[in-house]
Amino acid sequence: MSRLIVVSNRVAPTQEGSPAAGGLAVGVLDALKETGGLWFGWSGEIVGHGGAPSIDQQGTVTYATVGLTRRDYDQYYRGFSNATLWPTFHYRTDLSRYDRREYAGYVRVNAMLAKQLSTLIKPDDVIWVHDYHLLPFARALRDLNVTNPIGFFLHTPFPVGEVLRTVPPHEELVKAMCSYDVVGFQTHSDRQSFVDYIERGHFGVSTEEGVMQAFGRVLKVGTYPIGIYPDAIAKAAEQLSDRKAVAELRDAMRGRRIIMSVDRLDYSKGLVERFQAFEQLLTDAPEWQGKVSLVQIAPPTRSDVQTYQRIRQALEGEAGRINGRFAQLDWTPIQYLNRKYERNVLMALFRLSQVGYVTPLRDGMNLVAKEYVAAQNPEDPGVLVLSQFAGAAEQMPGALVVNPFDLSQMAAALASALSMPLSERKARHSDMMARLRASDLSTWRDAFLDDLRHVATAASVTRKA
Ligand code: ADP
Ligand code: F6P
Repeated sequence: MSRLIVVSNRVAPTQEGSPAAGGLAVGVLDALKETGGLWFGWSGEIVGHGGAPSIDQQGTVTYATVGLTRRDYDQYYRGFSNATLWPTFHYRTDLSRYDRREYAGYVRVNAMLAKQLSTLIKPDDVIWVHDYHLLPFARALRDLNVTNPIGFFLHTPFPVGEVLRTVPPHEELVKAMCSYDVVGFQTHSDRQSFVDYIERGHFGVSTEEGVMQAFGRVLKVGTYPIGIYPDAIAKAAEQLSDRKAVAELRDAMRGRRIIMSVDRLDYSKGLVERFQAFEQLLTDAPEWQGKVSLVQIAPPTRSDVQTYQRIRQALEGEAGRINGRFAQLDWTPIQYLNRKYERNVLMALFRLSQVGYVTPLRDGMNLVAKEYVAAQNPEDPGVLVLSQFAGAAEQMPGALVVNPFDLSQMAAALASALSMPLSERKARHSDMMARLRASDLSTWRDAFLDDLRHVATAASVTRKA
């Protein structure tokens, strides 16, 4: 079997050996541990000048990471990736800015990373690249005469053409994406946006099912929703129920209900609207005052990007205002914690709560929604309230699906989740668990890699013919 090389900007292990908060790091780490292989990307460090990748073997996975100079970090990561592509891909053109120098830096860093990786590639390797930081990575490898199969998976949404076209080099970016052999999306609508952009721009056409000819290349374009391992999460959640953090929350609540939210502190997650809908619940259904708390766990992310500083301030303001308005001496309506937890402890906290409140304004998939369901006690499960704009909504009809821009609807969904009868909670939970098992993390990985390896086989047959 050929070796797998995974490439992503963020490489999973942190100092403590637990993955960074973020769907990519969590999902890829679990998926790669089983197959083994090489994981290449940014070390997370800013360095004085670039150097060769540093190599670290941990179990089945070899990590090869490189530092970024301050200029590279500012232009490629903080600039074009997170101040242009991230907001645009999440439909926040109002928060997106474009700077030519940052885009040039983005292309330059992709070329630099491709050059570094090229020294490590063996002839039979298959290369799987992840996320919006690396849209031009395959093209950069092709420029170095790398002919291995290269696939790309986008963890975020892919916006409709009208939105994508607000990024000035949109055509160059999509053309670069067509240097991959397989391009994968989380949902059918993300995939459709990509296909529509190409067909409406007359850059290419769909040929047979799932295959496109575009910009002079043939590529497979598919939908591969990322999953989790639901039974492993259920087990961890059950086993860690006596951990300190879990016991503390249980004691602090003293029988009160918990609505639980966990997200990176990102404006795409809809946290302000979520707090305000909770406030509306306390106003519309005052019988819940003193009886339910919203626990929002939100570790800061990308804190040196201005839009993230603003959302942090806005949230602190909203939490303070709502708590000031409703708090009682022995009850705080919103518990707002800016910290990261050990992954399994987080799962046990999910299990302790009666409602999972996951309401992003836009999200590629949202693993937290899936983890929340998996962590529940099947005999007394909590209820998931889920945004229709999370990719996960396509796969989780057992959730109470809401529009995160409609505060009254969200408040009503919280009220019905809090009072939902056990039989209905169980039925919804078992339906969602069955779906999570049928489309788990290995389904995602294997479906993508089967398609990528199929390309490799087809190409070698063509070369021999
Ligand atoms: P995103 O990729 O946008 O961050 P996801 O919901 O898909 O969103 O993935 C987030 C991942 O990070 C989940 O696996 C979640 O459990 C993890 N995570 C989020 N917040 C924390 C936290 N405070 N501590 C530990 N892990 C976290
Ligand atoms: O899954 C979305 C994602 O953007 C990943 O690409 C990224 O690893 C994660 O969220 C966390 O963001 P960052 O890598 O910028 O800390």
